[in-house]
Amino acid sequence: MRSNLAIGLRILLGRAPELLHTLPRDCYTKDIISVPIGRRPVFIVNHPETIRRIFVEDREAYPKSDLMVSTLAPLLGEGVLVSGGERWEHDRKMLEPAFMQMRLQALFPKMREAVDDWLCRLHALPSGTVIELESELSRVTADVMFRVLFSQAINGEDASKVFNAFGSFQRHSPQFDLRVVLDSDPLRPLPQAAELQLEARQIRGLLEQLIDQRLMRLAQGEHFIDFAQAVIDARDADGHAFKREQMIDQLAVFFLAGHETTASALGWTFFLLSQQPAWWQRLREEMDSHLGEAAFEFADFKRLSVVRQVFRESLRLYPPVAFLTRRASRDDRFGKLRVPKDSFIVVSPWLVHRHHAHWPHPDRFDPSRFDEEASLPGTGTYLPFGLGPRACTGAMVAQLEASLILCEAGRRFDFVPVAPEKVQPVTHVSVRIEGGLPVKIHAR
Ligand code: HEM
Repeated sequence: MRSNLAIGLRILLGRAPELLHTLPRDCYTKDIISVPIGRRPVFIVNHPETIRRIFVEDREAYPKSDLMVSTLAPLLGEGVLVSGGERWEHDRKMLEPAFMQMRLQALFPKMREAVDDWLCRLHALPSGTVIELESELSRVTADVMFRVLFSQAINGEDASKVFNAFGSFQRHSPQFDLRVVLDSDPLRPLPQAAELQLEARQIRGLLEQLIDQRLMRLAQGEHFIDFAQAVIDARDADGHAFKREQMIDQLAVFFLAGHETTASALGWTFFLLSQQPAWWQRLREEMDSHLGEAAFEFADFKRLSVVRQVFRESLRLYPPVAFLTRRASRDDRFGKLRVPKDSFIVVSPWLVHRHHAHWPHPDRFDPSRFDEEASLPGTGTYLPFGLGPRACTGAMVAQLEASLILCEAGRRFDFVPVAPEKVQPVTHVSVRIEGGLPVKIHAR
C-alpha cells in the first residue's frame, strides 16, 4: 500500500511546478501514498474502500481541512461548503428543498435567457473571429448563476460588481500547494492576506445589499422564484429561518461553488470534442434527431444520452475540483499505515479518475465507458461531485446547465482552438486551461 516518494517529491517541490503536470507516476498507480517529508503527515488516498471510509462511514472523523476552511471562511463564513458537525447537518437539511427537481424546472427559463443572450453576442461576431472561450464560459455561467440566485442578469450594475469582486478574490486565493500543506500547523491557521480579507468583506457587503433589496421588495408584495428566495424561505424543524448573516454565507457558497466549476467543465468538454471529431458528430446527430430545430427544454436533459456520456467522460479526465482535502481528527490506520491525528488527507479526483487499477486506458477520451450498457464505475472511483453526505448539492444544476450550453452552442457554432498543442491544465480554484482557450468561431 505504501510508496516512498521522498526523492521525487523533494525534486518536484523544489522546482515549484504546477502540481498536476509533475505528480510522480506512483500517484497514478499506488493505493495510498504517504508523503514522507515536511512536518505534517500527508496521505494521498486512491484506494476506493478507504475513500468510502473517509467520505461516508467515518466521515465525522475526517472534517474539511483546516487550510481549506481558513482560506474560504472570510468569504463564506459558516456556509455549507466549509462548516462542519451539527451546524453543517442542520443547514444542509434546510437547504435541500432549494435543489429539488421542481424548483430546478422553474429556474430553467432563467438559465435559458442567459444562454440566449450569449448566443446572440456570438452570432454578432464575424466568422473566424478569435474569442477566448474560457473567459466567455466563465461569464455565461456567472450570468446563469446570478439569474438563478437573484433573478438579475450579470450586466446589471450590482451583478457586475459581484462578478468582478469574485473574480479578483479567486485570482488572489492561494492555490492548493503541497509545500504549504507540508509546512502547515493545524493548530495555527495561516493568516489570510489583507487583500483577500478586504475582497471578502466587499463581496459580503454587496450580497448583503442584494438581500436587503429583496427583503424590501418582498415586503412590498413582490414574488420571486430563485435560490435567494429558497434561502430566505428555508426553515428548520423548529420553524426557524436563517439569520441575515447566514443567508449571505449560503449565497456566497452557491455563487463560488456554482460558476467557475461549471465553466471549467465546459471549457474542457469543448476542447476535448474539438480533438475528437467523431464524437462531435455523434453528439450533433443526437441533438438533430431529438431536438430538430426546437430549443433545448428541461425534459431534454434526461433524454440526450450521448450528451450525458460526453460530459461524464470530460468530468472524469478533467474534474474541476482536482483535490478534496480533509483533516484526520483522531489517530487512525489505513490498512497497515498509521495515520496520526491532524494528518492532512488528500483525495484527488484527478488521480483517482486516471488510476490504472480503476479505469482501462485511463488517459483515453472514451465516453462509451458511460453508455447505458457499460457497468457503472465502482463507488470511490468516480468523484467529480465528491462522495457521501457532503457531495455537491448542485450536481444536477451543473449538469442541466452544461447540457443546455453544450447543445445550444454546439449545434450553432464550431469552436476551433488556435493552438491545441499548447493546452495544459492548471489548478486555480478549479482546473482551468493555462492561459485560456483562444478559439476561432464559425457559425454552422
Ligand atoms: C461541474 C460543476 C461542479 C462541480 C464539478 C462541483 C464539485 C463539487 C465537489 C467535488 C464538492 C464536494 C467538495 C468536498 O467534498 O470537499 C462540491 C460541494 C458543493 N457544491 Fe458543487 N460542483 C459543481 C457545481 C455546483 C453548483 C452549480 C452548485 C450550486 C448551485 C454547487 C454547490 C455546492 C455546494 C453547496 C457544496 C457543498 C456541499 C456540502 O458540503 O454540503 N456546486 N461541489
